[in-house]
Amino acid sequence: MGQPQKGICAEPNLHAQFLMYNVLDDDAQALRAKLARVLEVFDYYDHEHYEAMVSGVIAVGVQYWSELYPGPRPKELTPFPDIEVADRCAPSQSYDLFIQIRADRLDIVHAVAVEVNQLLSIHVELVEDTRAFRYLDGRDLNGFVLADDNPRGPERREVAVVGDYDLDFAGGSYIHAQRYRHDLPRWNLISDKRQEQIMGRQKEHNLPTQEANLSSHYTRTRLTDLPGIEAHARQLRQSMPYANMQVQGEYFVSCCHSPRPFKAMLHSMYYGAGESDYDAWLDYTNAEMGGAFFAPSIDFIQDNAI
Ligand code: HEM
Repeated sequence: MGQPQKGICAEPNLHAQFLMYNVLDDDAQALRAKLARVLEVFDYYDHEHYEAMVSGVIAVGVQYWSELYPGPRPKELTPFPDIEVADRCAPSQSYDLFIQIRADRLDIVHAVAVEVNQLLSIHVELVEDTRAFRYLDGRDLNGFVLADDNPRGPERREVAVVGDYDLDFAGGSYIHAQRYRHDLPRWNLISDKRQEQIMGRQKEHNLPTQEANLSSHYTRTRLTDLPGIEAHARQLRQSMPYANMQVQGEYFVSCCHSPRPFKAMLHSMYYGAGESDYDAWLDYTNAEMGGAFFAPSIDFIQDNAI
């Protein structure tokens, strides 16, 4: 199996930068070589500043994959599910490249981003650039602990990384990214009790709330509890909050051995089990961007650089 990129299974960091690019030229050969050099930039900073826990991910957009890497495709590579139901919307953008940079030092994240951007600049246009950070004790800006239910230890790799059943792409990962914008003034107007009902979790200790509630975020995303969905329907969430004084939200990133768990969860959140059973958290946050990508293994990127 190829070696997964370090940022796929990395433990949470204090800082992140998420870059989205579209490719402007058709020199795929040159870009493939540049992506291998981006891996070298990640490695260089990781070795020079090991205490900063630097990691990176290079992921290629579903629509752009065959142009960059003609030949076999990852078996389950499919577009982002564009969803529009009532006033809930999960838009998709067909961005060509997604780069995730993470570290425990903001200056290092910035330095890596500058080098990556310089390396790629003659081939691409930068279309989104979002800085994210760890908030309080790993909470979302809505006050609830994030990613507590994420797989841990060796399970992270099992959930996030493609296995030998897709030999050419073993060691890779299906990535879904979404930029959500929260309406925090409205969220902060409702009581803690109501917020806990909506998230399906207790705010302070993060334990699941005891009352059955079909429209809580907990129920809508915990597919192992829903009939007809296989028990391994899990994903590794690498999401982080982003904010300035005008805009606040969550940069949602899911890494998985298959795109199916993310799609099933998103469908469950937006459509719910019945007319009114959609995820009530969506009344307070709005997805503004979404994209589907594949992050090939380090070996794949290096072998295809020449
Ligand atoms: C604005 C966006 C989102 C926010 C702020 C958010 C926040 C949270 C929080 C606070 C939890 C409880 C603790 C935990 O993470 O385990 C949670 C759980 C979870 N979320 Fe989200 N989430 C968001 C979007 C999504 C999306 C888009 C998906 C999937 C498509 C998702 C899937 C899950 C899953 C699988 C869990 C674990 C269920 C549980 O045990 O509570 N989330 N989320």
